[in-house]
Amino acid sequence: MGIYATGRPRQPIAIEELERQAREVLPREAYDYLAGGAGSEDTMWANRAAFQRWRLVPRFLRNVAQRDLSVEVLGQRLSTPFLLAPIGVQSILHKEAELAVARAAASLGVGMVLSTLSSFPLEQVAEAMGNVPHWFQLYWPGHPELAASFLHRAERAGFGAIVVTLDTYFLSWRERDLQNAYLPFLQAQGLANYFTDPVFRAALAAPPEKDPVAAVTLFSRVYSNPGLTWADLAFLRQHTRLPILLKGILDPDDARRAVDAGVAGIIVSNHGGRQLDGAIAALDALPAVVEAVAGQTTVLFDSGIRRAADLLKAVALGARAVLLGRPYCYGLAVNGEAGVREFLQNFLADLDLTLGLAGRASFAEVNRDCLVPGP
Ligand SMILES: Cc1cc2nc3c(=O)[nH]c(=O)nc-3n(C[C@H](O)[C@H](O)[C@H](O)COP(=O)(O)O)c2cc1C
Repeated sequence: MGIYATGRPRQPIAIEELERQAREVLPREAYDYLAGGAGSEDTMWANRAAFQRWRLVPRFLRNVAQRDLSVEVLGQRLSTPFLLAPIGVQSILHKEAELAVARAAASLGVGMVLSTLSSFPLEQVAEAMGNVPHWFQLYWPGHPELAASFLHRAERAGFGAIVVTLDTYFLSWRERDLQNAYLPFLQAQGLANYFTDPVFRAALAAPPEKDPVAAVTLFSRVYSNPGLTWADLAFLRQHTRLPILLKGILDPDDARRAVDAGVAGIIVSNHGGRQLDGAIAALDALPAVVEAVAGQTTVLFDSGIRRAADLLKAVALGARAVLLGRPYCYGLAVNGEAGVREFLQNFLADLDLTLGLAGRASFAEVNRDCLVPGP
């Protein structure tokens, strides 16, 4: 009952209201970049609809007086069953960007995955995370020495894993951004990891501070390599000892290939409906992927999680943990570090109550028995 006696919240509790406030405070193009998706945005909506097709079935008289929100991922105990998803170029939402997010997350023991396209260099964000788990998301550059340099820097800075995002070798057809003629990277935002990288800098005639246009041109040339194949994963192996996870897997055959490639984990995700318009809802893809890997690799999940009940459903369908995406960014836009922190505190409180009300004391007890298909 205590949470009802803590006074009026500083920001909306309901995520839909928080999003509405973010829309009010952000420039139109920044809000559209954050909230929008690919093409018709049909996949973005499908992600949400998929959660409604599963219903939780609570159990009673099972002693849920103490709840444990921790889970084990990659041999490490995380104090929460979620990490923050990699979201690029947070400087368009708040000037303290990823540093504000890292401070808020670290203060609550919540792990974070940092995007390659961050507004502050990875070393600075790692420092803000301290001992709280932080992983580095790699947009695998088409320039092999640059890819190796990113991996070495992440390892040296203390990141605990590399998350290779597979689904963004082209930026998709995003109608809102095209209409706004907006792509923050072209304005040299979100490129801190490139601009501070020795390999990237060595490839330029003048440093990015002197000639940002040439630096942005080089970035757009080296950002990705659509020619990569499964065989190329060996390159990453050669350049890092960190566990590797593949983000964006939706097909059971791809999941089996990931197992064959020996990766530590996969993240079932459709990038929040921002890449392939019409793609399968991530939650709809999850059960078949979990079945295909048969426990041989860790399965994580993102795309569409807004409340604790969504998280419970994803774990019940076989995800070990999940990533939270847009919601924490709405907190960042509205109130900076304090906004992220308040969103996370609310999410954690919701999670603790929802787990207990489902009749489970820990996530080890959350499985298919918690769910039935909805109407
Ligand atoms: C504005 C924005 C930027 C993103 N940038 C990245 C990124 O840099 N790297 C990445 O792997 N995923 C990125 N994603 C995808 C997220 O990691 C995650 O998959 C997605 O937000 C999940 O969907 P949800 O926010 O609807 O829950 C981005 C998503 C958004 C909304």
